[in-house]
This record gives sequence, structure tokens and C-alpha cells, in this order.
Amino acid sequence: MKNKRSIKDKYGPTALVAGASEGIGAAFATCLAAEGLDLVLLARRPDPLQQFAASLEKRYAIRTACIPCDLSAPNAMNQIKESLDGREINLLVYNAAQPYIGPFIKNSVDNHMQMAQTNMLTPLNMLHVFGERMLARGRGGIVLMASLAGFQGSGFLSMYAATKAFNRIMAESLWYEWKDSGVDVIACCAGATSTINFIETQPEKTSFLAPRVQRPQEVAKECLERLGRQPSFITGRGNRIASFFMQKILPRKTAITIMGDTTRKMYRL
Ligand SMILES: NC(=O)c1ccc[n+]([C@@H]2O[C@H](COP(=O)([O-])OP(=O)(O)OC[C@H]3O[C@@H](n4cnc5c(N)ncnc54)[C@H](OP(=O)(O)O)[C@@H]3O)[C@@H](O)[C@H]2O)c1
Repeated sequence: MKNKRSIKDKYGPTALVAGASEGIGAAFATCLAAEGLDLVLLARRPDPLQQFAASLEKRYAIRTACIPCDLSAPNAMNQIKESLDGREINLLVYNAAQPYIGPFIKNSVDNHMQMAQTNMLTPLNMLHVFGERMLARGRGGIVLMASLAGFQGSGFLSMYAATKAFNRIMAESLWYEWKDSGVDVIACCAGATSTINFIETQPEKTSFLAPRVQRPQEVAKECLERLGRQPSFITGRGNRIASFFMQKILPRKTAITIMGDTTRKMYRL
């Protein structure tokens, strides 16, 4: 990594990764451990979380703490504050998200509301709590995970895509508000990434032109290199090219149709 060790020097010694035990979150945790940061790791299932934490401690000689917590619970932030017991967080990666692929109307309102909590309201709460403390200290870093799905209407991913747009807009807005305060914010807009959750959805390849599926490590590494340099970015060259056509060349109606058609084919809907 180009700016090796500078993450710790720039932001401070401790990072919290929300949604840390596998996939992109685990890749962020590994990159940050390799940079020498101590980690607070959060996910719902305690066992895989603790095993992962132990493996990082052993490999990188860092200290970890685990918070088993469901980010879809309205009181998640209180639980996190209690677990931290005043401990300073210098870098926050909000990675977890609840997906739903399918017709909007087939999912219950309760489940849509739960997605809103996990993907928007809990990160909003964390932005406020940790953002305020970072601003008071005059340094800090925040990564919000967004998605290519959040750049236009995405049929059969409607609520997920809308929550990802929320994260991108929040990160870009706060990047501007906080840019002279020492607190960096970035939205990491990923395309298809080979996490367990992505593979379990059994997507079909829809076209030979589809961008290459990235590895979680590529996504995390690229994001940490760009934190502090820009308000948001799209991971991977293939995704950036596809996004350029979708956002800058094609009429919006065409882009929305391509996105919906692709999702329908990918998931045989
Ligand atoms: N994978 C892709 O193709 C892709 C593409 C674009 C954007 N993204 C974005 O990248 C992020 C990571 O995606 P991912 O595929 O790695 O999978 P993910 O399911 O969003 O994240 C997996 C991690 O989050 C934890 N987690 C999930 N729900 C949680 C909850 N309610 N409370 C606490 N922890 C929770 C999981 O552990 P537990 O199950 O133990 O809780 C696991 O450690 C998401 O924000 C997603 O929207 C992914």
C-alpha cells in the first residue's frame, strides 16, 4: 500500500469495522490490522467474529475487541456506546448492509423498515456520535459502503439501491462539510464483489461485457488508498468504465432499464 503506516499516523490507533467477520468488512479489518491499527470488530454472530479477531491478533500483533451486535436493532448505537465504554474510535468503516433482491411488493414493509435501520439509520447514528467526537479531536476517518446499484433506479433492488444512494450522498455531503476539520469521509461504491453473501445469491453472468467480479481485498485496499483524497469513488476500472457509460452517455431511462433487465436476468426473476 502506497501510504503504509500513514493511516495510523493520520487518524489514530483504533478502527471500528461494523460488519467485520467476513467479505468486504473482513478485508477492511485485515488491511487496517496490516497497518498496525487496533480493531473493534462488530457483527451479529460472536463465534466467527471472535475467531477472526484471534487470527488477526496472532498474525499482526494488534489488539482487538469484539462487539456482537445486530445493527438492525433500533438501540444498536446504545449497545455499541456501552460496549466501547468511552474508548476512542479514530476510523469507522460502516460495511454491513441488509440486501433484498426481488419485487418490492413481495417483501414485507417490516423487512424494508429493517433494511432502512441497518443500511441508513444505524450508520446515521454512528456518523453523528463518532463524527462529533472526531471533529472535537480534529482528526478521524469514516468509510461508508455504497454500491453501483445506488447510482440510478435499480428495479428488483429498489430499497437496497435507495439505501446505497443514501450512503453515497451522506458521505459526499459530510466530506464537504468536514473537509477542513481533519475528518475525512468517503463513500466506497463497489460493483459485484466475490463475498460469501454475493456468491450465495447465485448470480448468473449476463454478458461477456459485464465488469469483472472483484475480490474483497481489492475493494478495501483501493478504498483506504483513496480515503482523504475524494468524497466518493467507484471500485475497479471495469466498474468505472461501465458506470461512465451508464451515467454520462446513456439517457437515464436507458440506464435504469439496463440495470433492471440485468438484475432480472442475473437472478432469474
Ligand atoms: N458483495 C457485493 O457484490 C457488493 C457490491 C456492492 C456493494 N456491496 C456492499 O459492501 C458491503 C459488504 O457486503 P458483503 O457482501 O461483504 O456482505 P454483508 O452481509 O453486507 O457483510 C457481511 C458482514 O456484515 C455482518 N453483518 C451483516 N448484517 C449485519 C447486521 N444486521 N448487524 C451486524 N453485522 C451484520 C456479517 O456478520 P454476521 O452475519 O455475523 O452479522 C459479516 O461480518 C455492504 O454494504 C454491501 O452493500 C457489496
